[in-house]
Amino acid sequence: MASKIKCIGILTSGGDAPGMNAAIRAITRSAICNGFTVKGIYRGYDGLINGEIKEFTTEDVSNIIQTGGTILRTARSTEFLTPEGKEKAYQQLVKHGIDALIVIGGDGSLTGARDFAEMYDVPCVGLPGTIDNDLYGTDSTIGYDTTLNTITWCVDKIRDTAHSHERIFFVEVMGRDAGFLAQNSAIASGAEAAIIPEYNTDSDQLVKFMERGIRKSKRSCIVIVSESPKCGAMYYANRVTKEYPQFDVRVSILGHLQRGGSPSAQDRILASRLGVGAIEALLQGQRNIMVGIRNDQVVYVPFVEAVTREKPISMELIKVLNELSI
Ligand code: F6P
Repeated sequence: MASKIKCIGILTSGGDAPGMNAAIRAITRSAICNGFTVKGIYRGYDGLINGEIKEFTTEDVSNIIQTGGTILRTARSTEFLTPEGKEKAYQQLVKHGIDALIVIGGDGSLTGARDFAEMYDVPCVGLPGTIDNDLYGTDSTIGYDTTLNTITWCVDKIRDTAHSHERIFFVEVMGRDAGFLAQNSAIASGAEAAIIPEYNTDSDQLVKFMERGIRKSKRSCIVIVSESPKCGAMYYANRVTKEYPQFDVRVSILGHLQRGGSPSAQDRILASRLGVGAIEALLQGQRNIMVGIRNDQVVYVPFVEAVTREKPISMELIKVLNELSI
């Protein structure tokens, strides 16, 4: 199969993540180095369906390694979820002579690639591009490190006010259903606690924290809360106001500023290695896999594992935060 591939299409899909441009650059340059033609597909699967496709040269990816967002733009396509949408996408690949597809995105985007690859004989390779770090089989995803740094930078500033006014701050961070950003930004910023979805069901994390931490000795504190439609930062702030009225409480929801900005060196290196790894995978005849990094080695993870298996938060991280926030 590898020998039949002449032209590779690249698209970014789902939420943008810092480092996506570094990945686009790496895929394009490595593909050209290895004799492939490269076509950039704009606006994710929607752009594929609509044929928004352009051939890329090495110059098209110059001067982008340091930029956030994605030069290919991105979308969350609902049409691609339908069989008709996938058929239109396939017809566009045929029309544009694209023999293999590389998708940079998160859970939903790689699930789309997996389903497409099951229906059509097109080798598909995924790169984990999401700030959430929730893909199984890779130690880190593109964008995660930059976002962790951004959150840490923000919390350092919030801490000045928390300390000066002796307040409890609930800082809400992104992550969708995963608590990696909350847990690790709490460790990095020296926060007193993290409230994460992985542990929302087994106990009342707020009560545990109030009894263990703030009441003993501290007059101010910062709690990082994973976003959640029902129990985000506002929910916990309202509860503290009612249940522990002696405290002065504030909320800060960081929102999309977490997703933007220039990628960290770590994310640029990760994206570059994964991009080169994706071309190597196609050269080896691999298909329907996500390229990841585990223990500093590039690995190929079957799509079905990457998108269906849960990536657990290690208990060691929980212990580190608990022991250091006394
Ligand atoms: O998956 C990345 C992410 O930033 C999540 O952390 C967040 O829940 C979601 O995307 C927000 O998506 P949107 O930008 O479409 O509101």
